[in-house]
Amino acid sequence: MRRAVCPGSFDPVTNGHLDVISRAADLFDEVIVAVGVNASKNRLFTPQERMDMISEACRDLTNVKVDGFTGLLTSYCQERDVRAIVKGLRAVSDFEYELQMAQMNSSLAEVETVFVPTSPEYSFLASSLVKEVAMFGGDVSGLVPDFVRERLVARLEERRRAGEG
Ligand code: PNS
Repeated sequence: MRRAVCPGSFDPVTNGHLDVISRAADLFDEVIVAVGVNASKNRLFTPQERMDMISEACRDLTNVKVDGFTGLLTSYCQERDVRAIVKGLRAVSDFEYELQMAQMNSSLAEVETVFVPTSPEYSFLASSLVKEVAMFGGDVSGLVPDFVRERLVARLEERRRAGEG
C-alpha cells in the first residue's frame, strides 16, 4: 500500500490545506493527515479540535485518516512504515524552507517529500492570515469551510471576552 503523510499544524485547516490533502488522496492509497501537537507555538485550537475539524472536512475522502503526532515527523513515519511526506507549495518563498526540511527529513529516515503546487486560487492562504483577518472582523468565507469559519469566529469572540473580563 502506498501511504503518505500530510503534516502540519492546521490551526485551523484552510481550503488550501484541503486542496493539497484531496490531491494527495488521489495520488496515494492512504493519506494520514498528521497534526503536529508539539507545544512550540501559541495555538487558537487544541490538537483535538484541529483534528476534529480536519476529519469533518475530509469526511468524503475515504482514504484519508487524521492523527496527531509529537516529536520528529520522521519518527512518526518510521513507526507507521510511511515513505512519503506530501507538502503544498504556495510560492517560491515557501520553497527554500520546505527544501531544507525535506533534505533534513530524508537525512534522518528513508522518506521522500513530494511537493504539490497549491492551486492558484489558494496561493495566498495561510492559517495565520485567516486568523488575523477574522480577528479584525474580515470575511473569511471561501478561505475555510463554513463550519470552520463559525468555530473560528466563536473562538475569537471567546478570547475577546476573556481578555475583557
Ligand atoms: O503547518 P506548519 O506549521 O508549517 O507545520 C510544520 C510541521 C508540523 C510540519 C513541522 O514543524 C514538523 O514537521 N514538525 C515536527 C518536528 C520535526 O520533525 N522537525 C524537524 C523538521 S526538519
